[in-house]
Amino acid sequence: MIKVAPSILSADYMNLQRDIEKVEKGGAEYVHVDVMDGTFVPNISYGPGFAKAVNAITNMTVDVHLMVQNPEHLIPMFADAGSDILGVQVEATKHIHRAMQLIKNHGMKPEVVLNPGTPVCMVEPVLHMVGQVLVMTVNPGFGGQKFLPETVDKIAQLNEIKKEKGYDYDIEVDGGINDKTVVDCYKAGATVAVAGSYVFGSDDPVARVNAIKNATK
Ligand code: DX5
Ligand code: ZN
Repeated sequence: MIKVAPSILSADYMNLQRDIEKVEKGGAEYVHVDVMDGTFVPNISYGPGFAKAVNAITNMTVDVHLMVQNPEHLIPMFADAGSDILGVQVEATKHIHRAMQLIKNHGMKPEVVLNPGTPVCMVEPVLHMVGQVLVMTVNPGFGGQKFLPETVDKIAQLNEIKKEKGYDYDIEVDGGINDKTVVDCYKAGATVAVAGSYVFGSDDPVARVNAIKNATK
């Protein structure tokens, strides 16, 4: 069964604590925090102060996804904010290896993220040092986009490398995930599913968390 990471990008911001508590009680393992800078992606969301406030009200794993150009300077701030996992887009820095080292040295689980247009070979040199790889299954920047099936092959490639080399990273998928699209991702080796609009766009987010889990039994 896959772990579920509801993305609060699609939650009700004026009732955020209520929404977070709902999915936590409903069995979600992670809370996914999407940080957007208006440069790496065309949208702006929230920063470390927000992640800190989320961390203060939940026991779920705080899973931070940085969609930020040159994110290195933010690493200490997200560590102070209590982030458990910190993801950096491989396209956003010239120094992905250093970024992964910095995240680890700040006591968080390093995660490398790949856009749909980025091949697996771009992240291969850091796979030995990451705790999680995030395969974007839409182009980042917005919730509610359509799942891109051509990304599934990269999940399978990352799962192959993981088995072959004995690595133990989680493989997370993010974008357009629902109880249907998650199935192929899970079969290809995904272990964590981010879902925003599918979970929070419903009157019953808990049922949606369970639907994703039940589809991957
Ligand atoms: C997209 C973000 C996602 C987003 C997913 O840039 O990284 O985490 O919230 O939203 P859905 O599940 O609606 O595609
Ligand atoms: Zn995300």
